[in-house]
Amino acid sequence: MLYLIDTAKLEDIRRVCEYYPVAGVTTNPTIISREKGDFKKIICDIREIIGENKQLHVQTTATEAKDILREAEMIRQTVGGNFFIKIPITKEGLKATEMCKKMGIGVTMTAIFTQPQALMAARAGADFVAPYINRLDNIVSDGVNVVNEIVDIFKVYDIKTQVLAASFKNVEQVHKVSMTGAHAVTINPDLFDMMIYHPLTYYAIDDFTADWQQVYGEKGVCDLL
Ligand code: E4P
Repeated sequence: MLYLIDTAKLEDIRRVCEYYPVAGVTTNPTIISREKGDFKKIICDIREIIGENKQLHVQTTATEAKDILREAEMIRQTVGGNFFIKIPITKEGLKATEMCKKMGIGVTMTAIFTQPQALMAARAGADFVAPYINRLDNIVSDGVNVVNEIVDIFKVYDIKTQVLAASFKNVEQVHKVSMTGAHAVTINPDLFDMMIYHPLTYYAIDDFTADWQQVYGEKGVCDLL
């Protein structure tokens, strides 16, 4: 399962990329508008930070297929590299997905809340589908189960579309999604830190340090080789 960062905050992207194994960055209009900056500069800066090879998913704001395609082509030209246009699942979005794929543009079909939406997106040729876990949990649906069934349906029909699960608020949701065989998750920067946090890890490190220092004092391994 790959990890992507769900933010457009440049300092967070730099920090998370420095420490964690990151496959790319996802944004949406809400995430971009939170930065209150120049859209073109934000997406170009993200590309510069992550490099050409990591995935960059940027969402369309258009609603008609021909306009979505136009935005996809322009964003691809602007950011280059490993790029995916995020398109919400609508009739026009499905039409746009087929058009984008014909032009060789990667597509992530987003705002997925049901298994039938995901299958339809896959049949239209989407490279990724993005089901929204926490938003499903918030309406007393079961986000993890929806992902689980999407993964199963794709296996049954030997569909190559990947599941990029989105909208997470806690480690438990990410862990349960990882058990479904989903291909990727996109999570906010704070969740990266929470994913690896455990107090016993720090107790263990403190014990190792104390035991070592009793014998070798402040000397490190390199001092003794
Ligand atoms: C990413 O693709 C989604 O747009 C995002 O994860 C939605 O997250 P939210 O439900 O926290 O807004």
